[in-house]
Amino acid sequence: MASRGGFSNRLGFIAAAAGSAVGLGNIWKFPYEVGENGGAAFLVIYLACAFLICLPIMLAETAIGRNTRLNPFGAFNKIGNRKWGLVGLLGVLSGIMILSFYNVVAGWAFGYFIQIGFGGLLSKGVNYAEYFGGFVSDITDNLLFSIGFMVLTALIVAGGVQKGIERWTKILMPLLITMILGLISYGLTLDGAMDGLSFYLVPDFGEINANTFYTALAQAFFSLSLGMGALITYGSYVGKDDSIVGAAALITVADISIAFLAGLMIFPLVFSQPSIEANAGPGLVFVALPGIFETMGGIGPFIGASFFLLLCFAALTSTVSLLEVPVAFVTDQFKTNRKKTVYLVATFIFFVGLPTMLSQGASDFFTNFIYYGGEDKDFFTLIENVFSDLALPLGGFFIAVFAGWSWKNKGFQKELYFGNAALEGTFLEKMILFMVRFISPFVVGAIFIISVLQIFFNISLF
Ligand code: PHE
Repeated sequence: MASRGGFSNRLGFIAAAAGSAVGLGNIWKFPYEVGENGGAAFLVIYLACAFLICLPIMLAETAIGRNTRLNPFGAFNKIGNRKWGLVGLLGVLSGIMILSFYNVVAGWAFGYFIQIGFGGLLSKGVNYAEYFGGFVSDITDNLLFSIGFMVLTALIVAGGVQKGIERWTKILMPLLITMILGLISYGLTLDGAMDGLSFYLVPDFGEINANTFYTALAQAFFSLSLGMGALITYGSYVGKDDSIVGAAALITVADISIAFLAGLMIFPLVFSQPSIEANAGPGLVFVALPGIFETMGGIGPFIGASFFLLLCFAALTSTVSLLEVPVAFVTDQFKTNRKKTVYLVATFIFFVGLPTMLSQGASDFFTNFIYYGGEDKDFFTLIENVFSDLALPLGGFFIAVFAGWSWKNKGFQKELYFGNAALEGTFLEKMILFMVRFISPFVVGAIFIISVLQIFFNISLF
């Protein structure tokens, strides 16, 4: 234990896991997915996925990690068998691939921080939608910003789980929330704000189709950092006398709340600017926010730069957890030196991300990379579809099946009792078990099959 390091206490774990969960998924991805999938109806399904399906899986992941004190691959090998080890490997691979594109988007946020804070972006009178398109296809800027971001991530991970990750999360998360609350209040004073609110909060269930379900489910997994073993890895640093049940509930509530607030922030702002559509896609925050900062006059650049800086920090506590997974895998399994491993793995993942970076207009080949599901997809979309939308729910499915059905000698329940002896025999315990055994695997399994048909074969079951 001592040589692997660990969190200082339960709060340390909660802070780090919440830091992992809260990131671009909440502030960049969640709003544009709500925007593309019909607003409030998506929100409702998303909340159901998060609490009914994902929370039990979060408990399973953390329990597996703490019990084995190993990375996902090592963990499944230890308490499962070789076949289960493959689930761990899939998780490590997903971590690598998700970080490869996440780092590119984090680079965009970093770039916006620099451009607004130091490049006078808000006073240039540009059309922000066009600016965004130009920005993501400019390879020089992108290279610079994403290299910068990967270096920061690697430095923190090399510093170890406790000092780096814990400390910063505790300081920066409250700042980010304050900033979002401020922007919500400002947004509500603008014309059109009410249309934005009703789009976001008044469900129109006619908008729901198969697409809505899998997008919401995949988003819940992504946002909660589930399905690839990030929480197995973080769980491996949790002490035996800490309750993981309460911790998981807190982490889920924190993550969902911040995503919810991000929506409350964005939609009034979007609807107050006639030139911006809610279904603008991945550019949504990068297009909607600068326009608003511009209207703030003198303090606009300060507010804008601070916002994107805080977004970078939120992203950083997520990239750190993504990098930690393959690093723990390599150091546990091959007994390598931790620091060297960090730098090697980070460099490798950076290169894996290059095609993604080139796929936003810089290279024709990667921009129109592959045809499936009825249209040409860029390389970024392919990697996101395979390693985030599909691999995370698939991994989550196996994690639930393992904890619920395969872990011997009531391993899962017993692990939950540590730090929470009062759980034994309670209704809550039965509920958790029921969800992990039945609800999570069956619902995820069903939605997964629907997703594959939909994403890759364009077959819509309903
Ligand atoms: N949850 C992170 C976010 O929302 C992304 C992430 C996914 C981190 C998977 C770790 C593992 O930004």
